[in-house]
Amino acid sequence: MTGYILALDQGTTSSRAIIFDQEARIISQGQYEIKQSFPRPGWVEHDPEQIWETQLAAARDAIDRSAILPAQISAIGITNQRETAVVWDKFTGKPIYPAIVWQDRRTAGICEELKLKGLEEEIASKTGLVIDAYFSATKIAWILDHVEGARERAAKGELLAGTIDSWLIWKLTGGEVHATDVTNASRTMLFNLHFRAWDDSMLNALNIPRSILPEIKMSGGQFGIAKEHWFGASIPINSVLGDQQAALFGHTCLEAGSAKNTYGTGCFILMNTGTEAVVSRHGLLTTVAWGIGDEMYYALEGSVFVAGAAIQWLQEGLGLIQEPASSEDKAREVEDSEGVVVVPAFTGLGAPYWDMYSRGAIFGLTRGTTAAHLVRATLESLAFQSRDVIGAMEKDAGMPLTELRVDGGAVRNDLLMQFQADILGSNVTRTDYSETTALGAALLAGLTSGIWTKEQLLTFNKSERVFTPLMESEERERRYFAWQDAVSRTMGWEKH
Ligand code: G3P
Repeated sequence: MTGYILALDQGTTSSRAIIFDQEARIISQGQYEIKQSFPRPGWVEHDPEQIWETQLAAARDAIDRSAILPAQISAIGITNQRETAVVWDKFTGKPIYPAIVWQDRRTAGICEELKLKGLEEEIASKTGLVIDAYFSATKIAWILDHVEGARERAAKGELLAGTIDSWLIWKLTGGEVHATDVTNASRTMLFNLHFRAWDDSMLNALNIPRSILPEIKMSGGQFGIAKEHWFGASIPINSVLGDQQAALFGHTCLEAGSAKNTYGTGCFILMNTGTEAVVSRHGLLTTVAWGIGDEMYYALEGSVFVAGAAIQWLQEGLGLIQEPASSEDKAREVEDSEGVVVVPAFTGLGAPYWDMYSRGAIFGLTRGTTAAHLVRATLESLAFQSRDVIGAMEKDAGMPLTELRVDGGAVRNDLLMQFQADILGSNVTRTDYSETTALGAALLAGLTSGIWTKEQLLTFNKSERVFTPLMESEERERRYFAWQDAVSRTMGWEKH
């Protein structure tokens, strides 16, 4: 029987591969870690060869561990860490420099120059993004400027550039296909959302030749065939999308107004806004959710910089808990946080505040404050920050949140999930799957391959538990007001 899907999930810390059956159940998987290099303060690099080799090995392990033959796999779906940029030699296939990772800040200076040229508004309206080193464009420009001879070689057509999806597609197809999808393209700061194409004035602003960039395709589509020698069968690549978008799809947030929150080191929150690109007035990003057929769906995206990292701080920085999982038991030692508010603005504040000078603070300490209160208040800060972003989304989109679907490590914490529902005043749905990102890539590949219909997709990834708000609305607004007041007092602190 055919109809199995191989999902490749190339993330920041690991390369993973998962095989799903016709009921979208996981039948096997493989995983390898990725080495993180920090050559200078603020720089983060990956080895593109290692990314490819670990991704290939993870996929081969998944196939070996399954009881199926490679020929039974109908399609590959690719999902990936977004923004990370690679430039490689078209003829030898060798990268000319390490991959510059999305977290890397080395191009902040180039971004300042773009701002000084007054390009902020134009870039926001064309690409949906704010000017920031986060996105791929300045990373590609940096490599072209700093690797000897790169600009000449690019002009002669000897180099190719792309995000991690493009690199994997090129490798899998034996160098035959140089392509990306609309979600990954929308994270480069070179993609014009309205024309669905690379934007000439952005390419000129950064002196990036169009010829080195991949062809842009819809996320559900034909991206070429993975060569037979990799897996023992030729397998078509039928979906490609960035990992946060894949998680949105995997949660089957297919309708406008539906949203997901992934609780990782930070939080990535995306809300589907349907076929209209909503321009944010509250510091959120407008991004492509996915492209299927002729239709492009959009999302608003907001990130919380410090979420799981605040729980790590409780463990490693303060020594208040033994491990992140014990934060729930510790927090349950007290009835509530007794007025303590922790603002974990360790690296400044993102949406909707955007204050890089804000720093962390603890408010409301009394002689009776214990470790349990601090742990509880820190957990609550994840929920408050998520409400900040979701509130901005509701205002921008002009539509209320219907339900928040959640994934990531911290969602096993029932206390946090209940508080999230309480402070949002909306249902929070935890789903069966721990692998929502890979599932999203698999579902889209299955949809493209005709294995599933859109209606069938909605039957997958069912809710495991729904947390409904139990807090009185007066109490909710009182607590949220105290949070906002605390946040406002941390702003500008670093300027002292
Ligand atoms: O924008 C960066 C994001 O795509 C990275 O996600 O899960 O690889 O940390 P992750």
